[in-house]
Amino acid sequence: QELQMNLEQIEKGGYDHFMLKEIYEQPDAIKDTFRGRMLVEQGIIRMAGVDDHFEKFLQAPRIIIVACGTSWHAGLVAEYIFEEFTRIPVEVEYASEFRYRNPIIHKGDVVIAISQSGETADTMAAIKLAKGQGAFVFGVCNVVGSSISRETHAGAYTHAGPEIGVASTKAFTTQITVLTLMALKISKAKGILSKTALHRYLQEMELIPAKVEEALKSNEHIKAVAEEYKNASNFLYLGRGYNFPVALEGALKLKEISYIHAEGYPAAEMKHGPIALIDEQMPVAVIATRKGHYEKVVSNIQEIKSRKGKIIGIVTQGDTEVRGLADYVIEVPETLEALTPLLTTIPLQLLSYHIAVMLGKNVDQPRNLAKSVTVE
Ligand code: G6P
Repeated sequence: QELQMNLEQIEKGGYDHFMLKEIYEQPDAIKDTFRGRMLVEQGIIRMAGVDDHFEKFLQAPRIIIVACGTSWHAGLVAEYIFEEFTRIPVEVEYASEFRYRNPIIHKGDVVIAISQSGETADTMAAIKLAKGQGAFVFGVCNVVGSSISRETHAGAYTHAGPEIGVASTKAFTTQITVLTLMALKISKAKGILSKTALHRYLQEMELIPAKVEEALKSNEHIKAVAEEYKNASNFLYLGRGYNFPVALEGALKLKEISYIHAEGYPAAEMKHGPIALIDEQMPVAVIATRKGHYEKVVSNIQEIKSRKGKIIGIVTQGDTEVRGLADYVIEVPETLEALTPLLTTIPLQLLSYHIAVMLGKNVDQPRNLAKSVTVE
């Protein structure tokens, strides 16, 4: 028993929980995921699984992404990135819905299955269905040799290392890393992204680990925010564009480990419903980075404020406008718009972590949840 305890402590590497350890591992996990794949100076992205089937990607009339849970959120981020950079239409599907609704799949369609564990039953079933209908299926998995990595035609691993905490953290940011590299590579080959522009993205990607590190420095401040709102019964998360899926993921993290009801919404959609919920009891986390619909999000913040909602702004370093309106702001470093999810996710992970710890919840093994869902 005692030996078991010690072993676990060693595995946690000095952190109180696996989740916190994994949040802090993200700079390395992202680096390990792009290392060897990006030749920044030459402006080349090498990914064997993509290179071997490159024509399929270049010719694809459509990309269908299938996944569950947090991986589905990474798929949504990828939808924004792929459509912008490759101009290939993308659909993101819950694997569990896709497999049961007689989906339309054409020969030539590329299906991307995203799964940390590589064992999720619904995702596996969606892959088999797509293969049966002639699609080329590409896997983005973390666990090497997992069932999904073996069932797919090709793939690219995320090199996040083992993820133990049930609530996914580093798997999410590394999935986004892999999918971003894929989109940039295809974009360049299609002549959409110029050599200079690609170079700029690669240079910026290389800086992301250090910027995640920087974002993690807000930990103590985030703890104070958690202390303030830990007793709320509801939370709202808002974001737009690339950061809309991050809002969904922020809400999911809070639900999973603190059992506080939370909803993520595209900021502009707030007026079609969620705004009715806003009063002085409602904390609203708003992703309002300088890039991407900033002014529009600021006006959403004003609407929340005039209804007395409590505002937690996730902002770009040096922001003053949101600071003047919000109850709290949490800063992340500036980056290119398409890469902002890699940074804005970090404070939301920490916020849910601290709230769950303060409420005495089992952070690494939340009730009713499993790390991988191998039954439907
Ligand atoms: C479970 C886990 C989630 C995960 C989801 C999909 O619900 O608790 O953290 O996002 O499965 O898992 P996968 O391994 O396919 O990414």
